Amino acid sequence: KSSVTYIDGDAGILRYRGYPIEQLAESSSQLEVSKLLIDGELPSKEELSKWISDVKEHNSVPEEINNIIKAFPVSSHAMGALTSLEAALSTFYPNSKNITDEDENYKSICRLMSQVPILAANFYRHSQGLSFIAPDDSLDYSENFLNMMFEGDNKKMHPDLVSAMDTLLILHADHEQNCSASVMRNVGSSEPDPFSAVSAATAALYGPLHGGANEAVLQMLTEIGSVENIPAFMDKVKKKEVKLMGFGHRVYKAYDPRAKYLKEAADKVFNVTGTNPLLDIALELESIALNEDYFVARNLYPNVDFYSGLIYESMGIPKDMFTVLFTIGRTPGWLAQWKELLADKDQKIARPRQVYTGYDSRDYVNMESR
Ligand code: CMC
Repeated sequence: KSSVTYIDGDAGILRYRGYPIEQLAESSSQLEVSKLLIDGELPSKEELSKWISDVKEHNSVPEEINNIIKAFPVSSHAMGALTSLEAALSTFYPNSKNITDEDENYKSICRLMSQVPILAANFYRHSQGLSFIAPDDSLDYSENFLNMMFEGDNKKMHPDLVSAMDTLLILHADHEQNCSASVMRNVGSSEPDPFSAVSAATAALYGPLHGGANEAVLQMLTEIGSVENIPAFMDKVKKKEVKLMGFGHRVYKAYDPRAKYLKEAADKVFNVTGTNPLLDIALELESIALNEDYFVARNLYPNVDFYSGLIYESMGIPKDMFTVLFTIGRTPGWLAQWKELLADKDQKIARPRQVYTGYDSRDYVNMESR
């Protein structure tokens, strides 16, 4: 049972707390949507301004965390680093395991909201051999994140790109009981601190069948290389030698409403950055897939990851940061699912029962007789 997010996969509907995703993406901001997800209602002006200032109050990570970041190989994948760093945060906030203390939980929520972007930006700077940029409390959430990544690069800080980043975070904020949200709930049900549970959820998101698909899509488009190579690639998909990444969804059997919105948002980004040359390949793949039997019969439509990678790349974000951006966007959703779990007094520790398919009882055999 959950009252956070509603999806109708056949009709392509996605709502957070009853509000259509399109309206939120058009009119709201990442922090307002986060508050809505976590607390259940759109905040008043005063509530929103308190929430923003509470999140900003925790806008720095312990210096030791920055030292851990500097210890990662520069070539390591950003998601491996992020998963470790989120878990490491719990060691600096030991009271966060008092999960029956609502004030402590609120502090943990604010810390995760403000510090996951700092971990992400600082790891990115480390991987590029650049020094860290301190968070700037005068900036909005997405602007602050982009500033920590790209300070001084005015093109990458263009207001339309900042606004596109905020929209992307909103579109990724929750998606009911998906793989990573289920992990958040499974781990949360044994009652550890939320930093550890968010780290586990991040690991689940990392995989290419879940959040890692945005990176895999870009890899795929790059490998296809040009529109002429598409028919040969599609033959391989239909023979099941490869998957068409960014297509298909366990719940949506129609066009993913997030992908529809992202396709439109992409145009706004490309107006600033110039068109991404891989866009032509993506559009042609989509047009073939929407008309060919293999895809139509299986209800395979573009999902959220099909266009997001193209947008990120055009914004100058390297591929292995794509799923990190998904993580920043999804963190409030995980926290909303976690808060709901804690409030449900009927919730017990997650413990799937198995269908045992192994041997019946048998006697140990000595090594000499094997
Ligand atoms: N390319 C080619 N064939 C596919 C694809 C695809 N992307 N997705 C599903 N199929 C086929 C699959 O082989 C199966 O065929 P058949 O009925 O002949 O055995 C049929 O469609 C049904 O697929 P399924 O594996 O039962 O579907 P699922 O609900 O288990 O998997 C999925 C959903 C998202 C894991 C899968 O569609 C997939 O791997 N897509 C590519 C990865 C991707 O884009 N993931 C992002 C998902 S959206 C964001 C998120 O959740 O993070």
